[in-house]
Amino acid sequence: MQKNKNSSTRNFINLNEIDIGQLHNIMSFAHDVKKSRYGYIELLKNKSFILLFDEPSTRTRISFELAITQLGGNSIFLDPSTSQLGRGESIQDTAKVISRYVDGIIIRNASHKDLHEFANNSNISVINALTNLSHPCQIMADLMTLHEHFGTIENINVAWVGDGNNVANTWIQAAQVFGFNLKMAVPQEYKPNQDYLKKALDNNAKIVISQDINNIISDADCIITDTWMSMNDKTTNSDKKVGILERYQVNTRLFELAPKHAIFLHCLPAHRGQEVTDEVIDSPRSLVYQQAENRLHIQKGILKYCFDN
Ligand code: CP
Repeated sequence: MQKNKNSSTRNFINLNEIDIGQLHNIMSFAHDVKKSRYGYIELLKNKSFILLFDEPSTRTRISFELAITQLGGNSIFLDPSTSQLGRGESIQDTAKVISRYVDGIIIRNASHKDLHEFANNSNISVINALTNLSHPCQIMADLMTLHEHFGTIENINVAWVGDGNNVANTWIQAAQVFGFNLKMAVPQEYKPNQDYLKKALDNNAKIVISQDINNIISDADCIITDTWMSMNDKTTNSDKKVGILERYQVNTRLFELAPKHAIFLHCLPAHRGQEVTDEVIDSPRSLVYQQAENRLHIQKGILKYCFDN
């Protein structure tokens, strides 16, 4: 587990570093707080936070800022262009200074390595709001959405179709810790992180990876995709990548091959007409807006895990 200098602080960096009981507690609290949106105003009273984002965000920024406010805390948003980080101040110095001002930091950073560097040089809790490798807050909201819809996430069949990106990596970690079945249809050229996959398989995760899309979705309870060109994507030839991924588009023809009860999830923003068509994302079987709303509720669970223990 990732340690920072103060052993009593809790980070939220990768799902497989957190006790499964704590992950269930986070989800359970999110369900409670969804029923009572303004019911926990004392939880973060007098606590201050920084959101340090070096990449754009709609859902993650809004949901964390609102979650902190609605739990009684306060936050400041920082980005490199308006802080000294953008002029070359080191992560080490920034982390040491920020640790003296606030109780916690929520970081969206293009480099997972830099996120660890920040955590290693701070004594406050660090929450991963997306890196090039993982997006754990997102997948917790997705799992909450599955739990709401199916009443369970145990033994559920999740099908990932498309790019093996940071969100796909986090589904692998989620399958490792929650134990559901994960099947992934990804091209050979754009596979998910092989270290994450090996670690999950070594821990008996039920994960299948294939290029046979029909087989992957034939027993799916949920089909998930994501943009083909993520913010951190270093691909130089995007036309080539899009060309390879075209057969992985989640469209009506593909969706009809899944069981009738299967639902669709996408963390958004969607590139309509690329990884998903309007017919699928706007269909009654798409839960993408419920999924986006659940970002707010699950962030509260994550904040409680880190700051109210
Ligand atoms: N899904 C997600 O992280 O959305 P934002 O990039 O808008 O925060």
